[in-house]
Amino acid sequence: MEGFRHFQPAWDDGFYRLFTKAGAEQWSVGNLPWAEVGAIDPDWRDGMIALLSPLLVSERGAMQACGTMLPQCRERGDADAELVMHAMMLDEARHWEGLNRVFLELKAEPTPLSEWKEMLGVNYLIMRGASFDQWLWGIQICDIMAGHLYATFKASTDSKPIQEMFAGFLRDEKRHHRFCQLFFAREAANFTPEQRARWRVHGRKLVGKFEKMMCGRLADDLRRIGADPHDLAEKMVVSVERQADQYGFIAAVGDARAASAADD
Ligand SMILES: [Fe+2]
Ligand SMILES: [Fe+2]
Repeated sequence: MEGFRHFQPAWDDGFYRLFTKAGAEQWSVGNLPWAEVGAIDPDWRDGMIALLSPLLVSERGAMQACGTMLPQCRERGDADAELVMHAMMLDEARHWEGLNRVFLELKAEPTPLSEWKEMLGVNYLIMRGASFDQWLWGIQICDIMAGHLYATFKASTDSKPIQEMFAGFLRDEKRHHRFCQLFFAREAANFTPEQRARWRVHGRKLVGKFEKMMCGRLADDLRRIGADPHDLAEKMVVSVERQADQYGFIAAVGDARAASAADD
């Protein structure tokens, strides 16, 4: 048939091990013990409503990003990554479902989307990425942030289903993280020095936006659930910087935090 090509997978072992793990670790939000939510502290509830609202945007964005990136994987003939990304899309859909379920259980409405221009800015910064690699880097940064946030949320409550849900999110995000590491271990060697520098700055811009939100409008809500906003923001910055170093994304000339400020 004209135009049809069969792509033989490269069978990069790491990707298949990861896909096996993704299959074995599937779980359902609906199967968590929601009858055992228990007593909810009103202050914690207020904090969580404010903190989870932008994450609704973020998880839905992740779901959408997978959908946008999948045809790109196929175009590149990267069948190994394509396979893993299908599992990732299901994970992101589950995260969105889970957060919506928490709002339902807390009998709460998310903060209106119009109040979350910052999050839409973050989504824009990811999706305007000039290439598959840049998107994936943006997504990995969001996964790093999400990992720190979900670990904080998990530790902040005794509610069994909510704890279990965040534990499930963390398992999923760990796999996404691994996927990015496998991908960049393979690809980053081919990046030009300009690309490396650009990726570094892109990462810092993205982290800067999160940092600003957490130490700004979300600071009180983080304190409501017993977290220290500056500590948490610092952890995120350090994790992203460490990951960028590992990939050899070399810092560009000039202070990237200044670049981040200039971008706002
Ligand atoms: Fe997610
Ligand atoms: Fe993710």
